[in-house]
Amino acid sequence: MPLDRTRVVIVGGGPAGSLLALLLHRFGVESVILELRSRDHVLERVRAGVIEHGSAELLREIGLGRRMDADGFRHDGVNLAFAGALLRIDFQRLIGRHVVIYGQTELQKDLYAAIDEAGVSLVDEVTDLEIDGVESSTPSVVYESHGTRHDLACDFVIGCDGAHGVTRNLIPDPRTFGREYPFVWVGLLSETPPVRDELIYANHERGFALCSMRNKTLSRYYLQGDASDRIEDWPDHRFWDELRMRLPYGPSNDLVSGPSIEKLVTPLRSWVSEPMSHGRLFLAGDAAHVVPPTGAKGLNLAISDVFYLADALRGYYSSGSATGLDEYSSTALKRVWKAVRFSWWMTMMMHRFSDAEGDFDRKLQDAELEYLFSSESAQRGMAENYTGLPI
Ligand code: FAD
Ligand code: DHB
Repeated sequence: MPLDRTRVVIVGGGPAGSLLALLLHRFGVESVILELRSRDHVLERVRAGVIEHGSAELLREIGLGRRMDADGFRHDGVNLAFAGALLRIDFQRLIGRHVVIYGQTELQKDLYAAIDEAGVSLVDEVTDLEIDGVESSTPSVVYESHGTRHDLACDFVIGCDGAHGVTRNLIPDPRTFGREYPFVWVGLLSETPPVRDELIYANHERGFALCSMRNKTLSRYYLQGDASDRIEDWPDHRFWDELRMRLPYGPSNDLVSGPSIEKLVTPLRSWVSEPMSHGRLFLAGDAAHVVPPTGAKGLNLAISDVFYLADALRGYYSSGSATGLDEYSSTALKRVWKAVRFSWWMTMMMHRFSDAEGDFDRKLQDAELEYLFSSESAQRGMAENYTGLPI
């Protein structure tokens, strides 16, 4: 039976909401997670694959590193392909850091297992959510779950309900900053060995391509498609033919194709809503900002947001100080904007834009890539951002 009073109500049980509940539990702060979908649905969403160095450390610190370290893969570098050449950005040599390849689906399993073990309440398949009183010190959340209506009083409401969530609508007169990119990514998962041990991001005249993986027998690939493309436009054979054409000679030759076991089409946009708080409501993760997947930053930003927020809530409950909560939005946004910048930079550098963008932009893109391929300082900057700026 769900509680009728808790300290923190977290709307959304994706990575941001689940991790926040666990961090709060460690600090002795009780919370309830309300999730729109079933647990199985959340676990089936194939999304991120790259965990930043600092995110991985944080996950280890709170006891979520065991499966990630056993089944994930430490990557000390990443490859960029351009004009037939392949450049390896050597994170380890340049800055002594790495990333971990570990699917968001696996991380979500770990989060749910830890939530169950800790006895944190997670109510799934929640509908008809109504949030009231975030401008007062006694907010409340009314919702329906599995046919029963519940009324939950709390001290704080946290919006972790992702890009299509409802909580950010409670922030009056937000300022939004955004950009839509004129293409989509088509993603394919297949039970085939990855084409290389490390990721390849390819800029090709036919469009961007990305080779990623989940493990030694499971590959994840993405291709730039037209903005109007649907999954039906990308039968497997078209995907594999196109991928082969967009990779440099070596990886193209070595590519092993096979039937897709999952496919998606996802639009690319950069979008930030400010501020990330109002009264007793705080937003974290995709609920407040969305970045194009090119820089592999979305999940990692969700992790850094909830880290700041959990710390602020700990301060509030341990010493009554609201300073951390007052500063949460501006602290989180500083890191968010740096990731927005990096994801925008990688997106602009690696994709092909239509001729309408003009020759000037193409020339700039070539110059950007040639500079990166020839300058160790530029590579160090990319390594620092890709493996994650300090939290
Ligand atoms: P979500 O994961 O969207 O979770 C929000 C949750 O809230 C969902 O479970 C949803 O069901 C629930 N919800 C929604 N509305 C309501 C409601 N009204 N009431 C209750 N619950 C609600 N990021 C990286 O860092 N690295 C990568 O390599 C990477 N690759 C990506 C590749 C792709 C193809 C895509 C699409 C994304 C990728 N991302 C990556 C981004 C990453 O997946 C997201 O940024 C991350 O899921 C954000 O977590 P979140 O918890 O904020 O939001
Ligand atoms: C993956 C997704 C990304 O957006 C990215 O930049 C790198 C890898 C992945 O799904 O493996």
